[in-house]
Amino acid sequence: MIQKIEKISGINGELILPGDKSISHRAVMFSAMANGKSVVNNYLNSEDVNSTIDCFRKLGCKIEQTETDLTIFGKGINGFTKPNSPLNAGNSGTTTRLISGILAAQNFETTIIGDASLSKRPMKRVVEPLSKMGAKIETSKIGSLPIKILPSKVLNAIEFDMDVDSAQVKSAVLLAGLFFNTETVVIEHSRTRNHTETLLGLRVEEFDGMRKIFSSRKNYPKPTNYIIPSDISTAAFFIVLALTSQNCELLLKNVLLNETRFGIVKILQKMNGKIEIENERESCGEKLGDLRIFSSQLKNIEIDSEIIPNIIDEIPILSVAGLFAEGKFSIKNAKELRFKESDRIDALCSNYKKLGVICEEFEDGFSLSGKVTNENILIKSFNDHRIAMTFAVLGLLVGKGICINNFESVAVSNPKFLEQIESIKLK
Ligand code: S3P
Repeated sequence: MIQKIEKISGINGELILPGDKSISHRAVMFSAMANGKSVVNNYLNSEDVNSTIDCFRKLGCKIEQTETDLTIFGKGINGFTKPNSPLNAGNSGTTTRLISGILAAQNFETTIIGDASLSKRPMKRVVEPLSKMGAKIETSKIGSLPIKILPSKVLNAIEFDMDVDSAQVKSAVLLAGLFFNTETVVIEHSRTRNHTETLLGLRVEEFDGMRKIFSSRKNYPKPTNYIIPSDISTAAFFIVLALTSQNCELLLKNVLLNETRFGIVKILQKMNGKIEIENERESCGEKLGDLRIFSSQLKNIEIDSEIIPNIIDEIPILSVAGLFAEGKFSIKNAKELRFKESDRIDALCSNYKKLGVICEEFEDGFSLSGKVTNENILIKSFNDHRIAMTFAVLGLLVGKGICINNFESVAVSNPKFLEQIESIKLK
């Protein structure tokens, strides 16, 4: 579907955005693993999270679903049953990589498949450490989907020093570790999102700027009630829109403020963005609060490499803030962007260039300056939800007849994106 985006004159009001995607995936997985009934409130009802839900239904787990809540009847440590067809992870890297850790410890064979984008993404990063634990996993020739996970009798705990900054890889190993009495240890050099360790209450030791995270059978999840804060990565699109619109005040309620996800707010504040945090509190061990955002005159700053894993999903929309800010926007040390739902460096640069923006592409990032000069451009979303929403925000700000292809891809993380914009735009 091609979506034409019309310029808006501003935004005002308040929004409660859907639950965080990373936490929703984990809440479904941990509830399905636990022995008994769990309730998940304010989960994200999007395509990605529905892929996780469908996978666990196929593994024999009963899940009742409304628009906002889930009741999950978890199967316990040996309770999953062999699915009668491959598990389809759709577009979701989180589903695939995290579930691989759980499936490696099952006594039946499973195959995981996905859509065209997911089928190109690297899976060796999880297959290698899981194989070191004794798992038997076969991938395609290029190390991607489909992957076949075979039962293995000789699984054991490992100490794994992560060479890629990835919360998904970390989580896959820690989840497999839940099935052994001996402790599995993951060593993390850069700070990636920590929802797995927070929700499971894992032991974390910090040393020399690194972290050791431990998991074992005693951390195996128990039935509980998850109340999920709103997704900060989804909020980022609205924050940037509010900061760069004229005469705007926007209140985003109940937003996740986890420090491993909060880099986008810190950077935008450093760029002179007026973002106030109100009503800070906690739910499921996660911090949340309300964000009040005002139109601001932004200026570009240097972005340190250590913060990159913290803002990895927000870099596309951060680049729109950078385009509206004084000075040149530049991001480096972000090669991981090439392995997301699309090659996001290529997706951003090719579209910005079409729009007439001055854009230099690097192997690990890009820089931007100038303005949108070209009209009636058809943006290629590469079927990537965050690319589609990034250029939608740009279109709302500049107009110029921007159209975006395969716009339905926004349903991966925020099916109601356009309705939310409609509810806050100045009429
Ligand atoms: C996620 C981790 C990140 C992120 C993805 C969700 C997670 O990926 O990009 O959208 O929920 O663990 P990596 O950990 O592979 O960087």
